[in-house]
Amino acid sequence: MVCLALGMTGCQRTESPQFAAAPKLGELSVGLQTAAQAELVKYTGSFQQPLLVAEKDAPAVDLTRGQAVYQERCVQCHGVSGDGAGPAAKYMYPKPRDYRRGMFKFISASYGHRPVREDLVRTVRQGIRGTSMPGFNLLHDRDLQAVVDYVVMLSRRGELEEQLIDLAESEQEVDPELVKADLVTTVLRRWNDAEENEVQPLKSAPKFTTTHVERGKRAFLTKGCSKCHGEDGRGQTLDNRGNDVWGHPTRAADLTSGMLHGGTRPLDIYRRIYSGINGTPMPSFANALRDEPDTIWDLVAYVLSVSSRRREGQSPTPGPIRPYVPVATEPAPQPAQ
Ligand code: HEC
Ligand code: HEC
Repeated sequence: MVCLALGMTGCQRTESPQFAAAPKLGELSVGLQTAAQAELVKYTGSFQQPLLVAEKDAPAVDLTRGQAVYQERCVQCHGVSGDGAGPAAKYMYPKPRDYRRGMFKFISASYGHRPVREDLVRTVRQGIRGTSMPGFNLLHDRDLQAVVDYVVMLSRRGELEEQLIDLAESEQEVDPELVKADLVTTVLRRWNDAEENEVQPLKSAPKFTTTHVERGKRAFLTKGCSKCHGEDGRGQTLDNRGNDVWGHPTRAADLTSGMLHGGTRPLDIYRRIYSGINGTPMPSFANALRDEPDTIWDLVAYVLSVSSRRREGQSPTPGPIRPYVPVATEPAPQPAQ
């Protein structure tokens, strides 16, 4: 974009960005690297001409537009290849998403699944409150849809690349037929599976009363939530240290912060509890609470009540909480813009 603004003169020596190869690719022999790269380019193109891994009859997507929006508004955090390591990412907590695993946190489908399109649209439009992920609700819908397609492209590219590396490692060759029949099909199946795995509550939401909140609090203390989130939901417990699958340290959300990352609709919170959160220590309670559909709604009522306490002017109990963990050593999360 800077180049465009400066006219052609400023641009000539600026190299066009490239998709970086996954570090694991470099561990293969040169022959295998070339073969894996060739297959990757066949299905996903290059930065100059990106391709979406998709079915033959899939609707056309405007990746040129998507790329322009992405390079202008997302790349500084999410990186050219979608590895989540853009120049601005260094001091952020949580880190921008590395799309290349196809794994997303705030989804409608159950644990382990891909997001449905609406999940990505919602995230980009609203942002993720309490993190550096801004909301882009002023983007023209065409640009928003295009950048979502571009994110899907980067994700599928990363997934295919990872599988190609695994295949090359285990077979010591990259058979194009196998890539087409197995690897590409696997990537597509995962994305197509999401919709039919959307979590619908076992029972519809009740009208929340203080009774739900009280029962929810009891469940919070007895079903294991307080182990990570602390008895008061602030997450100040010794056990509250973990890593996510992207290799970054993570902690259980401070539920009292008033900034629920995954959304504040009762259904959002229901899905977080029922499904857990992909890639993080937040476990799924689908099995544990299978026979207690009301308990999940009670917990939702409790989480909602805890999360609005500060806004209602009630401070959480002051003073050290047992067991006490000193204030975060990582930089504090930045407010959404
Ligand atoms: C200032 C940095 C920043 C910018 C700019 C930014 N993001 Fe993010 N993004 C983040 C962070 C941080 C997260 C991770 C939040 C978390 O893990 O809770 C994230 C997460 C995401 C997710 C994952 C949501 C999930 O459910 O896992 C998507 C999708 C996403 N961003 C898309 C975009 C798109 C598209 C743009 C550009 C239009 C963009 N982001 C611009 C910082 C940024
Ligand atoms: C093993 C630790 C652990 C346990 C047990 C646990 N959580 Fe979590 N929880 C986490 C972590 C870690 C996150 C933050 C995930 C992220 O966004 O990176 C989280 C996030 C959440 C969120 C999403 C908050 C947001 O910002 O949107 C909710 C809601 C939640 N937990 C509720 C619960 C409830 C209710 C229980 C008990 C039924 C529970 N958790 C048990 C670790 C845990």
